[in-house]
Amino acid sequence: MTARRRPLVRVLVGALAVVLVLCCCGVAVGGWAFARAGTDTVGEVDFVRPLAVPPLAASRVDGQGRRMFDLLAREGSRDFRGDGRRTRTAGFDGDFLGPTLRAKRGERVVVNVVNRLAEETSVHWHGMHLPARMDGGPHQTIRPGATWSPTWTVDQPAATLWYHPHPHGATEEHVYRGLAGLFLLDDDREAALPLPRRYGVDDVPVIVQDRSFSGSGQFRKTRNMISSIGVLGDTLLVNGTVGPFLDVTTERVRLRLVNASTARLYDFGLADGRRFDLIGSDGGLLPRTARLDRVRLSPGERAEIVVTVRPGERITLRSTGPDLGAGALADRFAGGRDRFDVLELRAADRLVASPAVPDALVPMDRLDPASAATTRTLEFLGRGINGRSMDMDRIDFAATRDTTEVWEVVNRDGTPHNFHVHDAQFQVLTVDGEAPPPALSGWKDTIYLPPNRPIRIALRFTDHTDPDVPYMYHCHLLYHEDAGMMGQFVVVEPGQSLGRPPRHGAHAPHR
Ligand code: C2O
Ligand code: CU
Ligand code: CU
Repeated sequence: MTARRRPLVRVLVGALAVVLVLCCCGVAVGGWAFARAGTDTVGEVDFVRPLAVPPLAASRVDGQGRRMFDLLAREGSRDFRGDGRRTRTAGFDGDFLGPTLRAKRGERVVVNVVNRLAEETSVHWHGMHLPARMDGGPHQTIRPGATWSPTWTVDQPAATLWYHPHPHGATEEHVYRGLAGLFLLDDDREAALPLPRRYGVDDVPVIVQDRSFSGSGQFRKTRNMISSIGVLGDTLLVNGTVGPFLDVTTERVRLRLVNASTARLYDFGLADGRRFDLIGSDGGLLPRTARLDRVRLSPGERAEIVVTVRPGERITLRSTGPDLGAGALADRFAGGRDRFDVLELRAADRLVASPAVPDALVPMDRLDPASAATTRTLEFLGRGINGRSMDMDRIDFAATRDTTEVWEVVNRDGTPHNFHVHDAQFQVLTVDGEAPPPALSGWKDTIYLPPNRPIRIALRFTDHTDPDVPYMYHCHLLYHEDAGMMGQFVVVEPGQSLGRPPRHGAHAPHR
């Protein structure tokens, strides 16, 4: 018997050894990947460049009283780090990013968008309530050399909106190269509040994007293979500036934080842990100011904060690991433990006094979920929503004008996703069954979806019906959007049914 057993023992011992070696290799590779996956720039950033502030776009009022802007999308290049290596980029009216458009509630605007790129693009007005054919989604493409001139009447509260291309399957690429800018809306309610509002002085855009550079200085497009959330960079650009500082001359400064990154989430706060006043989110001012020490933003989200500084100090805006709610491993590989020094605020020795930020901001009528005409469930999983991938020819559903809807949006993946809807700003009813935190108490158009925690939102569709031309809803991690995690809906008149999307595609005639 023993003579027979020996070979078996030997085989077992051998197998065990192999398994052990494989395990060790696995642990070593895993550990290496785990360590390498992290980025931490805290204390490492040289704040040597003044923060670029995007210029306000020039505009003119035409014979019909419309405020008219021009935007030209083009290629360019820039030496971001001052080492002589020029990065190939794209921008509006310049090499990288674009000017800030600004209009007031009630104004009719026209934007003449000229495409000087070598390929088709589009320009979407993220957060804007407007007719679907003016929305700039994948159905409103602009051929190279062509001009597109959408027009609409601004009819929503003062807010920090932004614009960026939205071509079918190539949004990530176009935004990554630098095509994005701000669209600020003003109104009388906001103007009546004692808030900092001198653009570039005490009211400053902070457009945050992460990039990595190759040896020759090009933007690296290597996707994170383990977490599949897209491209995560190790260097921050703020309004296109690497290592930015801002000279602050007033006691309080309003920062309009915009996460214009393609995949990365941030959790912004001040390095010394002091609180700031959160006054606004995606769709405008909050009902009440929230005193917070952190605000998390997923791609596409905005927050308006007011920071109070002391004379002569330097204080850093920092992002610490955003809670992705996806478990330790997924969090790590999706940037959930990454930290960045973002922007240095340099307070002057003598500061101009600023009024205190009021507690009450703007009234907000709550949408009543009990009056909802329809409740929809949107499940984010794999490369689609509700098991379907984006199809330009399929309209997923129709919402009816003058109705309220409740949408239950849930991430059924282990991977981080977020949710963005065009046309309508929404109110958050619950997050995983609980009342929303202060940062989600105002109007939103984009929201993070932690895995397996349903978000319930209420939306109201008011006007701009069109049975044929759809609006989009999608994950704003742009790699996911491009991969098909997007759907289309139309807003129709009562009793009207949904139609058919216009002809499109690379070979279809331009509409
Ligand atoms: Cu910011 Cu559908 O996009
Ligand atoms: Cu949008
Ligand atoms: Cu996603």
